[in-house]
Amino acid sequence: MDPGSVIYLMERILIIGSAGQLGSELSLALTEIYGSDNVIASDINPGNLKKFDFCRTQVLDVMDKEKVRKLIQEENVKQIYHLAAVLSATGEKNPLFAWHLNMESLLFILELAKEFNMDKVYWPSSIAVFGPNTPKVNTPQYCVKEPNTVYGISKQAGERWCEYYFQKFGVDVRSLRYPGLIGYKSLPGGGTTDYAVDIYHKAIAGEHFVSFLKEDSYLPMMYMPDAIKATLDLMHAPKEKVKIRSSYNLAAISFSPKEIFESIKKHYPNFTIGYEPDFRQAIADSWPDSIDDSRSREDWGWKHDYDLGKMTADILTNLPEYMVNF
Ligand code: SER
Repeated sequence: MDPGSVIYLMERILIIGSAGQLGSELSLALTEIYGSDNVIASDINPGNLKKFDFCRTQVLDVMDKEKVRKLIQEENVKQIYHLAAVLSATGEKNPLFAWHLNMESLLFILELAKEFNMDKVYWPSSIAVFGPNTPKVNTPQYCVKEPNTVYGISKQAGERWCEYYFQKFGVDVRSLRYPGLIGYKSLPGGGTTDYAVDIYHKAIAGEHFVSFLKEDSYLPMMYMPDAIKATLDLMHAPKEKVKIRSSYNLAAISFSPKEIFESIKKHYPNFTIGYEPDFRQAIADSWPDSIDDSRSREDWGWKHDYDLGKMTADILTNLPEYMVNF
């Protein structure tokens, strides 16, 4: 969507879990549209908020229900981007905590959206909703989903709750099933797809890279500028065009550790890789190789810009300078 052709309501927006991979970049993109007074970037860790010098900030634990409610009331928050979650690999280490945080927080935010008659809510889902019995290639929007990670189970249940709150209470909640997201503005955050973030750091540092996935383990992936564009396009689409209220399949590229390594080697000919699959291989094996996102393309005009080569060139140009921030 061309931002110049849209009139945005200058509403107050709260981003929960701003300092994560998605929030770090989405906060800036939202500030550019809605202005620094209207965007509140929040995170549980005060130290993480230093980088948000372009908008307002708030230390916030999403599980502190009284504090969240008070903030929404006092600030007249009209849109929430609820990004706080425990990711797949970290979730397997503490399943009950992952379930508790991922589910309780979503239900609480949906309730608040209903109570305060909020304009919109955004909540990310993931390819982790799929499981070993799902068709692996060009995975359709509607198919068998039997996720076997606690993260995937929480995302699948969350999708059902989103659709339920839309249908029963008219809460305008929108969601995307992200593939693995790759960006250079934050460090890997405990996901199975995060090897594809780490690999660029190792290449630039001149270090050998050890992949925790096998060389031919394909996963659906997306460069962060595409993910930001998709998120904003979905959130700014007219309500009637958002026909799926669980979560939309979303895709851009698919590659294996060997293929991303080869794309980097074109720029860093001395770069080396080894493969030592660990428990995360089973997680990757349960997820699709590639995704059919035709409903996103049809309903609200999704189109990706970056292929593997273009993404690698962009990251290797920008990451060395950005690394001083870590
Ligand atoms: N990138 C996420 C993970 O690997 C999947 O949504 O956990």
